[in-house]
Order: sequence, then C-alpha cells, then structure tokens
Amino acid sequence: MVQAINAALRRLPVPAVYLLAAVPGAWLVALAFTGGLGVDPVKRLERELGLLALQFLILGLAVTPLRRLAGISLLRFRRALGLSAFGYVLLHVAVWLALDMQFLWSQIATDLVRRPYITIGMAALALLVPLALTSTDRALRRMGAAAWARMHRLVYPATVTGGLHFVMVVKAWPLEPFLYLAAILALLALRLRRRPALARG
Ligand code: HEM
Repeated sequence: MVQAINAALRRLPVPAVYLLAAVPGAWLVALAFTGGLGVDPVKRLERELGLLALQFLILGLAVTPLRRLAGISLLRFRRALGLSAFGYVLLHVAVWLALDMQFLWSQIATDLVRRPYITIGMAALALLVPLALTSTDRALRRMGAAAWARMHRLVYPATVTGGLHFVMVVKAWPLEPFLYLAAILALLALRLRRRPALARG
C-alpha cells in the first residue's frame, strides 16, 4: 500500500502540486465573484485564506513525520507546500489590508499595536519571509546546506505563532483553533524527540 502511494507520488510532477494547492484559492475567488461567500464576503475570504495558510504550513511540518512513521515520502513537494502556505498568508494579509482595512494606514498601524492577534500574525509573517526568500536552489547553494537547514527551522516558531494567532482571533472558545494548535505542537514534539537520536548518529 505504502509502496503504491510512493510510486504514485513519484509520478506526480512538482508543478502539479502548485496547481493543486491553488485550487482552493481559485475556488474562493470564484465564490467571491458569484456571491457564494455569504453575508460578509470579505471576512469569510480573509478567514478562509488564513485557514488555508495554516493548513499548508501544517502539511509542510508533517512531511518528515509522515516519512519516518508511515514511510510516505512527500519530501519532493516540501518547497511547494511551504511556498503555497506563504502565498496564502500574503493573500490573507492583502485581503485584510485592501478589503477589510481599505488601506486606512492609521487604523492599520493602530491595529498592529493594539490588537495582539494582529501583532502575533505579523510576527508569524515576519518569520516566514526569510524562508520564502531563501527557498531557491541558488540560495541553498550560497548559504550551504547546514546554515540553510538551521535557518529553515524558523518554520517551527512561524507555524506555532500562526496557530497562536488563530487561537487569539476567535472570541469564544471553540475547539477548532485548539485542535490546530495541538496538531502543530504534536508535530513539533515528534521533531524534537528525533534530535537526540540524530545527534547519536
Ligand atoms: C503565518 C501567518 C498567518 C496565519 C497562518 C494566519 C491564519 C489565520 C487563521 C487560521 C485565521 C482564522 C480563520 C477562521 O476564523 O476560521 C486568521 C484570521 C485573521 N487573521 Fe491571520 N494569519 C496569519 C497572519 C496574519 C497577519 C500578518 C494578519 C494581519 C496583519 C492577519 C490578520 C487576520 C485577521 C484580520 C483575521 C480575521 C479576524 C476576524 O475574524 O475578525 N493574519 N488568520
């Protein structure tokens, strides 16, 4: 079964993953233009894009545990998953700036300082920017594999911060954001548990 999955994955070209990742975004745009986003389309769009960003970040974190625990290798697609997450974060923020805040810069500056969930969201974005900028093969060669890998560990605090942002956004105490945060922390714990074993070689 695992072999069949890996064989199918090997046949899947990387660009197809970018295309597949864009499908939910394109679907949201189609819904936006056909009045399918309900009574508050801007909020709905903003939230769905944020959720997609977090889901792709989590998928990226799941690549290594999935290979170690289930033998399924998505390694070839990790960059596509990370960049798709980053693309959705940028769209999420663009909707906030352009449609929600309507480029009211003084209000935007106030929110950045006064609303902790916005400040935390920005911190997550700031952590992701260097990863996106160094996602090319050229950057990897220039930095050297070890330094590149060290820097790309920023994806862990970035995803935790994104998960915290989700918990802080919601006013009541629904289960969903906590499930996301728990999934992120569990994936992180799996990663940390491996470190001593790696160090032992
Ligand atoms: C890694 C970065 C980020 C991730 C993963 C993320 C994810 C999310 C998620 C999952 C939601 C809630 C969706 C829902 O309610 O179903 C959300 C809501 C929101 N996020 Fe983000 N976000 C990020 C960065 C940012 C940034 C940088 C800003 C703005 C500066 C921002 C502004 C908002 C706003 C305004 C909402 C909606 C709040 C409301 O419902 O009133 N986010 N985000």
